[in-house]
Amino acid sequence: MLEQEIFNIKTEALKNISHSSSIEDLKFWRVQYLGRKSRLNEILKGLKDFSLEKRQKIGPLANTIKKEIADFWEQKNRELERSIDWEKEKIDITAPGKKVSGGHLHILTQVQNEIEDIFIAMGFEIADGPEVEKEYYNFNALNIPPHHPARDSQDTFWLKSDENKGTDKILLRTHTSAAQVRYMEKNFPPFRIIVPGRIFRREATDATHEHTFHQFEALVVGDDVNMRHFKHLAEEFFSRFFGKKIKIRLRPSYFPFVEPGFEFDISCTVCGGIGCAACKKTGWLEVGGAGMVNQEVFRAAGYLPRQYQGFAWGFGIERLAMMKYKIDDVRLFHSGDLRFIRQF
Ligand code: DAH
Repeated sequence: MLEQEIFNIKTEALKNISHSSSIEDLKFWRVQYLGRKSRLNEILKGLKDFSLEKRQKIGPLANTIKKEIADFWEQKNRELERSIDWEKEKIDITAPGKKVSGGHLHILTQVQNEIEDIFIAMGFEIADGPEVEKEYYNFNALNIPPHHPARDSQDTFWLKSDENKGTDKILLRTHTSAAQVRYMEKNFPPFRIIVPGRIFRREATDATHEHTFHQFEALVVGDDVNMRHFKHLAEEFFSRFFGKKIKIRLRPSYFPFVEPGFEFDISCTVCGGIGCAACKKTGWLEVGGAGMVNQEVFRAAGYLPRQYQGFAWGFGIERLAMMKYKIDDVRLFHSGDLRFIRQF
């Protein structure tokens, strides 16, 4: 009787184990057939109450069958684990790739890096200046005394502080020219530097005006530096930046820190100078200001009068980026609009 029951348990167990389709099912059957409270275990535990003869018959049989079930269970378990691993490891080489979205440099940073690379290749050094600047370096040292009308053209954000008195008032720099005398106080000619940086103007914004934008200052000083050097340098730079031959045109203008001073134009980057809508049929695009450094500026820097000569120029980085990438509104740069940023 008992022997038959043991054989039945085996048949049933092997059937259920082999039909298991998950590790969960399999665990359930292990408890059922091999667990502490399983029928097989009960039989083995009850052996002590049987006669010696019966014990010798049932004992080994129950143990052999328990081992057979356990082996079969192990085998099935390995099989199921392997198939699960295989599922995990499976690579569908025909599936479309997952897109990983990463950040990238802002278009303005890219343009600034590009400009810096061109100047570094031409032997320039990159200098820096603070965005919160003293009135002195932004104006006075550049031959723009208080009440000078040139201050009106650069509406200024003044900052309140304990230092906000005398000529040491502080402000947000209105141009990168503010770095000129700072640099010259610590360095002697000959040198050629560029100063890229953020500047601020207290003015209403529209498609071509921002309160915060970037400029690029160049300052080249030595014993015998003249406007021909400037013209050559500018032509070389703009040609490299736009990837085509660019011409420079100078028009007399006034900036207190240069004498003579010029407004400079480049040949239209769209039509090459023939005349089109972008240059309003003139063939030229206005880019920035330039001139020979005023001796007053050298004096403020502590250089002896007429010992050196040099030229300086400044232009807006946004304006250049707008020309190169055909962007029609300067406000887009700081809009934080990802649709704009992702295009570059
Ligand atoms: N700082 C001037 C401005 O922001 C631009 C400028 C004009 C810079 C003439 C120069 C220069 O270095 O020589 O309007």
